[in-house]
Amino acid sequence: MEASILFFRACLALLALPIYLLSFLGIWQPFCKKIFFPFFIEHFSATHEKKAKKQKQELFRNLPDFRSPSGELKLLEIGTGCGANFQYYPPGCKVTCTDINPNFQQGLSRSMNKNQHVHYERFLVAAGEDLHQVPSGSVDVVVCTLVLCSVHDMNGTLKEALRVLRPGGAFYFLEHVVADRSSWKYFWQQICYPTWKLVFDGCCLTREIWKNLEQANFSELNLQHLSIALPWTPIQPHIVGYAVNAARGGSQEEAAGECKTAQQAGKKMY
Ligand SMILES: C[S@@+](CC[C@H](N)C(=O)[O-])C[C@H]1O[C@@H](n2cnc3c(N)ncnc32)[C@H](O)[C@@H]1O
Ligand SMILES: *[C@@H]1O[C@H](CO)[C@@H](O)[C@H](O)[C@H]1NC(C)=O
Ligand SMILES: *[C@@H]1O[C@H](CO)[C@@H](O)[C@H](O)[C@H]1NC(C)=O
Repeated sequence: MEASILFFRACLALLALPIYLLSFLGIWQPFCKKIFFPFFIEHFSATHEKKAKKQKQELFRNLPDFRSPSGELKLLEIGTGCGANFQYYPPGCKVTCTDINPNFQQGLSRSMNKNQHVHYERFLVAAGEDLHQVPSGSVDVVVCTLVLCSVHDMNGTLKEALRVLRPGGAFYFLEHVVADRSSWKYFWQQICYPTWKLVFDGCCLTREIWKNLEQANFSELNLQHLSIALPWTPIQPHIVGYAVNAARGGSQEEAAGECKTAQQAGKKMY
């Protein structure tokens, strides 16, 4: 690795030394998950929201196309955080929220109160890699924004998204990704990488998320690269789009059967 990157990484680590020390003492991670990150996400969401509003409106415009034949739209969100996407969901949409971190209640309730056009069905504390509480083929849409940068297993998460989607259902995403390797942005990402990951709860700056999406067995992938204006941050390059789960003839009956089981199982709330 280039010596200059190592040098600047060390400088940044020096600036963040108190956090490294807290981390060494085992204090940072719990503090980050319980207090810092939920606080940060609620405020960062507001900024990101302003910059990405147009793209998100554009992205979610065709959500109603994926209603099930009964007219319902069952949507599952992976890594809901404070619910920054609720405002884009169509009225009556039935939302299942999932997140690995249960400490977002405050921001989440605020967002739910603001967005009463949506029907909130379940809240699951679950990792995207393991959505076993959700039956196969039981949702029309899965949404995942700014989450794939942090999951431990991206392939596993995409596999779970495909599993819970009904045939013909869609996976919507908006994610920050690695910059062009010949750019200064990439250099900056390389420098920030380790400290950023520590401070922001495991967020990796240099993932080529589009590659995993391309190989994830969706039947159709609509993907666009774009830059979101977040000056001085290493998270400007983004990908946005949606991917469709192939319509398989045979498994539809099976999926319908599993749906009933889900309703019988009742609601698990946190
Ligand atoms: C940067 S926030 C984005 C929140 C929200 N989706 C948004 O767009 O504002 C990342 C979220 O992903 C969650 N997360 C991280 N790893 C996860 C995993 N393996 N499974 C599910 N959620 C995860 C975090 O707890 C956090 O809520
Ligand atoms: C993810 O899946 C792709 C395609 O199957 C594979 O090439 C890649 O190595 C996998 N990544 C990891 C980290 O397992
Ligand atoms: C895609 O499907 C094939 C065949 O079912 C499977 O072997 C492969 O592991 C799947 N790829 C991913 C990334 O899940």
